[in-house]
Amino acid sequence: MTAPRPLVAGNWKMNGLKAALAELAAIRDAAAAGGAGRAETAICPPFTLVAAAVEACKGSPLAIGAQDCHPRVSGAHTGDVSAEMLRDAGASYVIVGHSERRADHGETNDIVRAKAGAALAAGLAAIVCVGETKGEREAGQLTAVVGGQVDGSLDKGFDPARIVVAYEPVWAIGTGLTPTAADVAEVHAFIRARLLALYGAKGEGVRILYGGSVKPSNAAELMAVKNVDGALVGGASLKCADFMGIAAVYR
Ligand code: 13P
Repeated sequence: MTAPRPLVAGNWKMNGLKAALAELAAIRDAAAAGGAGRAETAICPPFTLVAAAVEACKGSPLAIGAQDCHPRVSGAHTGDVSAEMLRDAGASYVIVGHSERRADHGETNDIVRAKAGAALAAGLAAIVCVGETKGEREAGQLTAVVGGQVDGSLDKGFDPARIVVAYEPVWAIGTGLTPTAADVAEVHAFIRARLLALYGAKGEGVRILYGGSVKPSNAAELMAVKNVDGALVGGASLKCADFMGIAAVYR
């Protein structure tokens, strides 16, 4: 199986008022001009901007995603948004199981798996996040934690063609710290082996993104690592120059 097409996705987190659509338009235009080369690009703004972002990016190569969804299609769940609603708004991706949601909202692997299943059922692709804390890494629990998250957050019955896994070490998020290329290679190879065990040869086609303090200055080194099929970018995705500086690795 040939290597999957890389994906460079931006997670805007809880950032972005309507005025930020100007930055989104700049990213859209840069992507349309070939700035991401062979990579696919996506931006996941807050819920409030999803529909407007979809509208702004119609007919462009920049895909739009969201940052969470509820496991159910509809019902009495005040404040929640379903995957079907996101699909209806025109999103094509949804991030599930981000460490900030696992920490802030107590999301377990079971909840994340249910959300990923809901995303796939609604016709979205799911970006499923995994990653260890500093304490877990230092205690030698990296593979137990990440392996448990991969196995627990994915289901054998999922269509691997619409699953993306993002490895985001919690201690690297927003800190400017990154693992060494050798460390990233080791964890991504470990995740790939788990995907092969779950999905057979189709596990080869699942994109495994690296996330955590990715910047234009370190993107080339991180993206060159075997089994790194793109990036999930936080802070640097808020500015067109930074985001496209990362995606430019694939030109
Ligand atoms: P930063 O790129 O800001 O470290 O955030 C990474 C992240 O959490 C993306 O989901």
